[in-house]
Amino acid sequence: MGGDGAARAALRAHLALARLALRARAGARADRRADPRLRRPVQGVPARGRRRAAHALGARQADLSARALAGLSGRRGGRRARAASRRRLALHVRRARAHQPRSRDELHHGAARAARRRRARGRGARRARARAVRVARAGRLARAGRRARGVRARRRVVRGRRARPLSRAGLQAGRGHDRVRAAARAAARRRRWRIEVNAPGRPACEGGTPIRDTLLPFFRPALGTEEEEAVLGVLRSGWLTTGPQCERFEAAFQKLVDARHAITTSSCTTGLHLILHAAGVGAGDEVIVPAMTFPATANAVLHAGALPVLADVLPGRLTIDPAAARAAIGPRTRAIVAVHLAGWPAEMDALREIAAAHGLALVEDAAHAIGTRYRGRSAGTLGDAASFSFYANKNLTTCEGGMVTTERDDWARRIRVARLHGLDVDASRRDGRGYRHWEAVALGWKYNLNDLQAALGLAQMPKLGAWQTRRVAIDRRYRARLADVPGVEPLRGPDGGETSAHIFPVLLDTARIRIDRDAVLEALLAENVGVGVHYRALPLHRFFRDDLGFRAEDFPVATGASHRTLSLPIFPTLRDDEVDQVVAALDRIVRFYAR
Ligand SMILES: Cc1ncc(COP(=O)(O)O)c(C=O)c1O
Repeated sequence: MGGDGAARAALRAHLALARLALRARAGARADRRADPRLRRPVQGVPARGRRRAAHALGARQADLSARALAGLSGRRGGRRARAASRRRLALHVRRARAHQPRSRDELHHGAARAARRRRARGRGARRARARAVRVARAGRLARAGRRARGVRARRRVVRGRRARPLSRAGLQAGRGHDRVRAAARAAARRRRWRIEVNAPGRPACEGGTPIRDTLLPFFRPALGTEEEEAVLGVLRSGWLTTGPQCERFEAAFQKLVDARHAITTSSCTTGLHLILHAAGVGAGDEVIVPAMTFPATANAVLHAGALPVLADVLPGRLTIDPAAARAAIGPRTRAIVAVHLAGWPAEMDALREIAAAHGLALVEDAAHAIGTRYRGRSAGTLGDAASFSFYANKNLTTCEGGMVTTERDDWARRIRVARLHGLDVDASRRDGRGYRHWEAVALGWKYNLNDLQAALGLAQMPKLGAWQTRRVAIDRRYRARLADVPGVEPLRGPDGGETSAHIFPVLLDTARIRIDRDAVLEALLAENVGVGVHYRALPLHRFFRDDLGFRAEDFPVATGASHRTLSLPIFPTLRDDEVDQVVAALDRIVRFYAR
């Protein structure tokens, strides 16, 4: 009994301590109830269920404890034992209520089993994740392979059912192997469909999937905040027309091409007109121009009152053929205009020799030639004078605009006067610094650039080098990729020539394909690739044919090329993968329609 007494004393002490602890805990619980931030949420177990579970758990434990206590006292069912049992029961119920199950699993299966089930689920999920990663990786590899073969992935309804993607997410959502196998079968069906219906060689115009989802423009301007700020600066400056910005732009351009004079003009066309005027070309004179060019080259001659005489161009290059130019010289010929087509320089050494031998002026139509070089010199310094274009799609743009460069002081003076009404002082010198008498000293035109445009051009000058590098890189990539495309020949330049890569024309070997150039243009557009044509020879235009009497058959190289040429997109922001898409589109078309 002595042992029992000691045990009871220990139990009493234990109960006293437990009461103290309970009181302390009840205080903490009251605090928690008062402060919502301290409440412990149990995910997935509703509050009512939690209470029931706690109750059941507490009752079971309390019962066990009461029985143990009764056994300890040695008097089963005795009054004191029953009282002690009631106290223990109340204590355990309170304790159990304080214990909140952590999850639905713990609620239903007890803590130990819930932990086992959690571990098992962890292993299963890891295995499922690893399987999903393997399948997704295989899918990625397959897609990369399809991309390399030019097959496009596309969701389609396969035999009346929507094909489900065999994706990691799809796999995770599914349960077990059946789902995986079903997904694999669906993927196989899709692969079969793609190979049959969407074969890599089938052009979009024949029902294939376009190489691109969206249209790649033929040209994309690359103007940014520098240009915006420059234009805003002029708008706020109080001086809008030809003024200090034009002077700065002229100085910068003169340095760029290393010319003696640079004079801003409203366009390349007006610049050509001013040059011919300065060269003394007028009524009754003739000027030789290439048959393959933009109409502006010949129009400038007509504006000057002279007659354009066409000369054929070099095969594969499409710049003026020096031999044809020499053959076109007559007693009234006053000048030769050479066009640096697409950015490749014309055969300037030969032309300079011919011009010198016949006392002719040699003029460069440098509309495409910002960045063009020929045997160590920039376009703009290769003849007596040159006219550049800053039209919207040019390598440097002022929206519309131009620049004349010349080595001749007398021509520069005449051009400055003639470009602005024939006045002896131009607008930049009639600024706010006070009035000066001005006088009309010659016939003039209104061919000046304004300061808004000049500011736009100036803002691009620092970027020009990087743009040029990128253009040339694109040009090289096109050439490398097109080497494997049958019947497509990029334009070439002369020995010692460096292209500005302004345009990238190719010549199609139309004898090798069953469709004409215009159908190829359509087919490229169907692939979402923007295209252009540079150019159709002048004798093919109604005005030059009907009004001026030029005949296509007299210029076989230029007119022949007119039916075979097309230009591919080239601009500094064109990406390498876009270049590859363009080539893939052209390749698919010429191979599909090969004879
Ligand atoms: C060869 C050629 N010359 C002249 C011009 C006329 O240029 P602008 O529009 O600046 O007058 C162009 C236009 O692109 C052209 O391609």
